[in-house]
Amino acid sequence: MKSIQVGLLGIGTVGSGVFNVLQRNQSEIIRRAGRGIEVTMVADLDTTRAKSVVGDAAQVVADARAVIANPNIDVVIELIGGYGIAKALVLEAIAAGKHVVTANKALLAVHGTEIFQAAQAKGVIVAFEAAVAGGIPIIKALREGLTANRIQWIAGIINGTTNFILSEMRDKGLDFDVVLKQAQALGYAEADPTFDIEGVDAAHKATIMAAIGFGIPVQFDKAHVEGITQLTATDIKYAEHLGYRIKLLGISKRTGAGIELRVHPTLVPTKRLIANVEGAMNAVMVHGDAVGTTLYYGKGAGSEPTASAVIADLVDIARMLDASAAQRVPALAFQPGAMSNLPVLPMSEVVTSYYLRLKVADKAGVLAEVTGIVARAGISIDAVLQREADEVAGEDGTFTDLIMLTHDTREGAMNDAIAQMQALPTVLAAIVRIRKEELA
Ligand code: HSE
Repeated sequence: MKSIQVGLLGIGTVGSGVFNVLQRNQSEIIRRAGRGIEVTMVADLDTTRAKSVVGDAAQVVADARAVIANPNIDVVIELIGGYGIAKALVLEAIAAGKHVVTANKALLAVHGTEIFQAAQAKGVIVAFEAAVAGGIPIIKALREGLTANRIQWIAGIINGTTNFILSEMRDKGLDFDVVLKQAQALGYAEADPTFDIEGVDAAHKATIMAAIGFGIPVQFDKAHVEGITQLTATDIKYAEHLGYRIKLLGISKRTGAGIELRVHPTLVPTKRLIANVEGAMNAVMVHGDAVGTTLYYGKGAGSEPTASAVIADLVDIARMLDASAAQRVPALAFQPGAMSNLPVLPMSEVVTSYYLRLKVADKAGVLAEVTGIVARAGISIDAVLQREADEVAGEDGTFTDLIMLTHDTREGAMNDAIAQMQALPTVLAAIVRIRKEELA
């Protein structure tokens, strides 16, 4: 059978991984796909670098549109990233009748609805395994492996840069800025690392997983996004003392009222496997009503791990090339006409438990005042830890740290309670609030 001809837009870290793995494992891939898969054309502004990767094996051009215009190209791989030119090129490739493989989570989380509609209208596939959690086949698992289930929740460490930063800060006591530079040097971080540290990259990925898990449209604008820049070593230490690790989690959850979609630092019990995912590794937990809780772990970034996901998509396309559109797995797992309009809930309606740290005056009655406010708000306290004032503030110290863990409560109620506690003259600094998930 004739080989599939692939055009690559962008041959940086991931693109060269795709080219090299395809070359190295071609015979194995043919045995699986039933036909060859060859990169025959590459577009990159840096044509010298592109030629140094592909040699004479593929035609190198500077203009991506020349790839889209080539009638021999069956599949276009978009590895440019971002929402700008990448969006235009993906839509043009679809319009030209090409199947598209992309690792571009930002593009799909923000413009996915438009892109999937265009692909459906044209009868082409848009595949995106590499967009979420790099080499972990989480899209395949959610879309196909767990298709029998009503998914209840998805929670994942889906940004390697922030997990690397949190791990190094905890293990080695290093400063945030030092570790961020290391993550950039290792090639984990986005071109704009604020996307990593402010939680935006994780929210892109959580948005895509929520769409597939619950059959809702991609709605990045409704996601709650909070990064790790406000986290302090003090809270990492207290959490550890209480039996928790702090991880940046992307969480989506089905509730009676709608879907929670949120990214924020989260206390996770140290005994959970996911709490022990260290460095740049990713892991995703999915809970389905039939299967129970499942866990997927692996490299979420890097050249060949991401190439592994891109090539898996190419093999899927190779197998489905001659099938009718109706026989294909829908892009978002659910048939396009069967998407749900379950609302994404505002944060005030989210139900979770909390870690609170209050810097309080070391005076009689303070604990009673604080716990009184929490009790009147109907919030149940799970544990309280009050440090000796001299341990926190030195000998003759006049303040101390009061740490509280709560049971599940509605975030709106917690916001009110925090506002009341903050107004007490005995509360001496901004209250730290970190959400907690038991993931049981
Ligand atoms: N910047 C991303 C991360 C790369 O750190 O996980 C993979 O999407």
